[in-house]
Amino acid sequence: MNMDHFEGYSGNAKLAGVIGWPVSHSLSPRLHGYWLRAYGIDGAYVPLPVTSKNLQTALRSLSKLGFVGVNITVPHKQAAFAAVDEADEIARRVGAVNTVIVEADGKLIGRNTDGFGFMENLRAGCRTWRAEVGAAVVLGAGGAARSICAALLDSGVPEVRLLNRTRERAEVLAAEIGGSIRVMDWAEPASAMPEVGLLVNTTTLGMVDKPSLEIDLSPLAASALVMDIVYAPLQTALLDQAEARGLATVGGLGMLLHQARPGFAAWYGYQPEVTEALADYVRAGLGSG
Ligand code: ATR
Repeated sequence: MNMDHFEGYSGNAKLAGVIGWPVSHSLSPRLHGYWLRAYGIDGAYVPLPVTSKNLQTALRSLSKLGFVGVNITVPHKQAAFAAVDEADEIARRVGAVNTVIVEADGKLIGRNTDGFGFMENLRAGCRTWRAEVGAAVVLGAGGAARSICAALLDSGVPEVRLLNRTRERAEVLAAEIGGSIRVMDWAEPASAMPEVGLLVNTTTLGMVDKPSLEIDLSPLAASALVMDIVYAPLQTALLDQAEARGLATVGGLGMLLHQARPGFAAWYGYQPEVTEALADYVRAGLGSG
């Protein structure tokens, strides 16, 4: 084994990790591990498989075990929001937490950085996009859609057109997030597409082992940007169809990379960068499960 470049960590290593169930699919240990090594930080970021039943106990044990923080993934984001001592404004609005900071006195601060990650990925991937240019079509009304709708409206998008298979879930989202969200018909996406600056898929459709997303993008203007938050596969059929039409596209992996930045900065005191080398390294982990 070639150990030339392995710095390792010491008995003083700052501990962080990701809590989920299952958690073995998570790319976060690979992502944070890359940054720790790249910046020569004495830290360890580990997967923490925790069931729903044990979430509260696990969170309350973090300070006792010396953890500086954790990320929270499926299916615990809403339960973690209920369990933390304080939550930032975005987490309260979205009702979910994906990042926990453990303070020196053991207090747990919850944040939600998914919307931040989405917007940073959008801006990095399409520098010409402007929020004011038109409405945004959001497909899906799950946890990810909540963060994304809030972030888009906060960024100045004049209207979100929200389409979800279960319409009632979209209506609840619109009422809870507030602002200019218009619930439209999932079965008639074409009617939502005129004068749109952005269309984003936040559903699980198009993911490996899930049904495909059946949608015809031809009513979109040539200036529209198409995004998918699915990153397995990296190139979804939605992005293929948009590119075949000559539309700008942004894939989902960048959201995962960017949402991780605020947690890393809070825990390790270092602002990490999303680079092509990082993206390549994390991408290489996609195949390995
Ligand atoms: P996440 O937190 O990752 O957003 P989620 O809360 O499970 O995940 O949401 C999944 C989204 O994909 C929902 O919008 C869901 O639609 P419903 O609210 O109608 O369930 C959508 N979705 C999943 N499978 C779907 C399918 N076969 N057809 C249409 N939409 C689907």
